[in-house]
Amino acid sequence: MEIIGLGIETSCDETAVALVANGMRLLANPIFRQVAIHEPYGGVIPEKASRAHLEKLPYLLQDAFSQKEAQKISYVAVTHRPGLTGSLLVGYNTALALSWYLGIDIITINHLEAHLYAPLLSGQKPSYPFLGLLLSGGNTALYYVKDLGQLSVIADTQDDACGEALDKAASLLGLPYPGGPQMEKKALSFMEKNKTAMGEEEHLCRQNPLSEILVKSKKKPIFSFSGLKTSLYYYLQKNPNPDIEALAYFFLQRVTEHVLRVVDYYTQIYPLGTLVFAGGVAANSYLRYHLQKLCKLKKIELIVPPPAFCTDNAAMVAALGYLYYQRGLKPSSSRVFPDSGLSEPEGIYVAKEVSSA
Ligand code: KG4
Repeated sequence: MEIIGLGIETSCDETAVALVANGMRLLANPIFRQVAIHEPYGGVIPEKASRAHLEKLPYLLQDAFSQKEAQKISYVAVTHRPGLTGSLLVGYNTALALSWYLGIDIITINHLEAHLYAPLLSGQKPSYPFLGLLLSGGNTALYYVKDLGQLSVIADTQDDACGEALDKAASLLGLPYPGGPQMEKKALSFMEKNKTAMGEEEHLCRQNPLSEILVKSKKKPIFSFSGLKTSLYYYLQKNPNPDIEALAYFFLQRVTEHVLRVVDYYTQIYPLGTLVFAGGVAANSYLRYHLQKLCKLKKIELIVPPPAFCTDNAAMVAALGYLYYQRGLKPSSSRVFPDSGLSEPEGIYVAKEVSSA
């Protein structure tokens, strides 16, 4: 018998609901993207985000509940951290009400862990232990994933998140929000105009005017993007009429080089067979290509979700919820609500068995 799960995601600027069978078969996946609401401000406005969740969530639920399989929902999985508090509360309270009304389990999900399990939706299941590289707009970290609910941060960022840096660079270049996809588009167009295929870019890289990112914290590399952003800023001060496509490429090239160096370093220390690459930035074809190349060289299996499941969605929340449901586990942090647990350190939490009583 198939287990049907409902996923709800409202941690930032995507209002999303999903109906998923056995944690992998997508039955419904309505998403309301709030880009147009936040675009005029160049970033997410928390109050506007939670209001939009309040307004849109009922319609998305209606959509999911119109599926015949919705009669047999066994659990509701909901993102409860990290994220914007007001936005999280909209999703969490809705899930809580549904679980009481329908008499089903509520499984609270860490958004970051959910990203690492998005590959389940395309039938790719990483085996434990694995490394998880999460690059998104709000978070950037490399995780050691020992088991379900058992993650520890190996390296995180000392300043911007990777997607945030791409968004800010795009804004410096006058590209619209969110900038990550725009940076990719411009960079690929630059390569095409220079008749350069991916992986055959040495001549372009040699011309990169932006400074390299060389960051070490206590001799171990960690992520850092603010220096590169500053380098772009000063370049633009000195060159008021720049080639936007070229700079988008050079910025992305430096970001990629840096990410690869960090991954290369830690895959030597943690010689695991699998690396999962997830989060909004994992939708970037340039980064995907180069990471794949590195992994092939190092004989590491690279697992990346399809681009549609890299950015925020509720299907990954339902998929991870299924794994917990199957094991009869709930993340230990599920007890933080209605207390404040939202400020707990992210990424490290240990699943705990929940008695059936
Ligand atoms: O995971 P996500 O949807 O939301 C967060 O949890 O942050 O990630 C959004 C981030 C944004 O910074 C966006 O610019 C970036 O992912 N992004 C991309 C691409 N698609 C989304 N960055 C580079 N290339 C892309 N194709």
